[in-house]
Amino acid sequence: MAFHVNLVGRKDLSGEIYREIRRAIVDRRLRPGDRLPPSRELARDLVVARATVTVAYERLAAEGIVAVRQGAGTFVSELAAQAGRDKPTQRSNGVLHPRQIWESILLPTVLDKPPQFDFRTGLCDASLLPDREWRQAVTRALRSSTTTAGAYEHPAGHRDLRTAIVRHIGISRSVKASADDVIITNGTQQALDLLARVLLAPGDGIAVESPGYAPPKQLFKTLGIRMLGVPVDREGLVVDALPCDVRVVYVTPSHQYPLSVTLTLARRQALLAWAERNNAAIIEDDYDSEFRFGERPLEPLQTLDTKGRVVYVGSFSKTMMPTLRLGFLVTPPSLRAALHKAKFVSDFHSSILVQAALARFIDDGAFARHVRRATAIYRQRHEMIADIISRDFTDHLELIPSTTGLHITALTRTMSAHQIAAVTRRAAERGVAVQVLSSQVLSPLAMRSPPGIMLGYGAIPTAHIEEGLCLLRACFDE
Ligand SMILES: Cc1ncc(COP(=O)(O)O)c(C=O)c1O
Repeated sequence: MAFHVNLVGRKDLSGEIYREIRRAIVDRRLRPGDRLPPSRELARDLVVARATVTVAYERLAAEGIVAVRQGAGTFVSELAAQAGRDKPTQRSNGVLHPRQIWESILLPTVLDKPPQFDFRTGLCDASLLPDREWRQAVTRALRSSTTTAGAYEHPAGHRDLRTAIVRHIGISRSVKASADDVIITNGTQQALDLLARVLLAPGDGIAVESPGYAPPKQLFKTLGIRMLGVPVDREGLVVDALPCDVRVVYVTPSHQYPLSVTLTLARRQALLAWAERNNAAIIEDDYDSEFRFGERPLEPLQTLDTKGRVVYVGSFSKTMMPTLRLGFLVTPPSLRAALHKAKFVSDFHSSILVQAALARFIDDGAFARHVRRATAIYRQRHEMIADIISRDFTDHLELIPSTTGLHITALTRTMSAHQIAAVTRRAAERGVAVQVLSSQVLSPLAMRSPPGIMLGYGAIPTAHIEEGLCLLRACFDE
């Protein structure tokens, strides 16, 4: 890599080169063991005499922070680490300020070490992924000419993956679509970003579930979209409570986040009828319904919709892993072109290499096998947690029945939000991570349900569940 030194208008050229390299070593841009560019090469890049560079190198060598190895070159020495510790360089904070809205946006905490008993939601068990088959799919994608081409692809994404997704959701969810209706996104979150920008102007209204999934709410807020919280009861979103001045409704019908309820068929039909009357769009977030432990699921809104009002959004964050950042949306034809443009102006398209690998993984049947196997394991965890909560926590918690996804929710019978938060804090001290329901809700969206806890089983090994819940139980008694 060319090493940049600003010599324009400078007199002591050798001194400038010395100081810049020294600064780079102190800042650890150059680390012990790194090789400095050969003096002839640096002299050519900086358009100076070679001797100018050699003098700078000799000064650095005299201080012991670089060392010359005969025949090999000049290297940053181990002593340099000491030089870095002595003089940390101070960077000014800068005079630029973000818009105020960013002060209210919360970043999730990334833990250095997972808790011993990890019942957090939004996680999956990446160790269940068949390592060998996934590696093979990635290796084959790496060899393919589509992933090594020097040109950008279509914003909709890799056609093989779109075709594979259409088959997958056609079989598993009866979603009717062609590959042209699918746009690959960097997860659900980007799908919602594209949809919000295509459908809503600042000041327009969107109805969101309350309580509901927080990250999209933060996104909509930054886009200046008005959010209206709509309560959720045992049958899912309360359609009768929808305000008529919203252009879009964002729902999680298969497995409401966070309450775990399923939107009933009657409510689904009512929601579609409401959207028709109010000329609104529906965003159907189907983020974890691949994992089903009960009877055949209800038809997605997308399948029931005959008017082209529903955009179906799916994610590979639970079935594969969240770090892939791969999801997709299925658009009605009327939004297709605008969504392609939105994806293009956002980031051209998602990484083709990962898309090609996933397409192969699905086509080879490895994805379906993995989901089947993972479902059996998650089912076991789901049943275990449900049984223990119903057996040992009945005095405090009421389980909301659910047969889908990677988390279970239980509402408190008598405890306040404050009391249940204290329980989860005590649990955290004992290495048990559990989420409180009420902290999910962003004000001013009102929550009608009592406070509770969510128990995710994506990350916790089955063998740890009993002990983790036993520790949690003790925290209720203190
Ligand atoms: C309701 C909901 N939608 C979507 C997702 C997945 O989001 P993404 O695909 O951006 O990782 C999650 C993850 O926990 C979720 O809870």
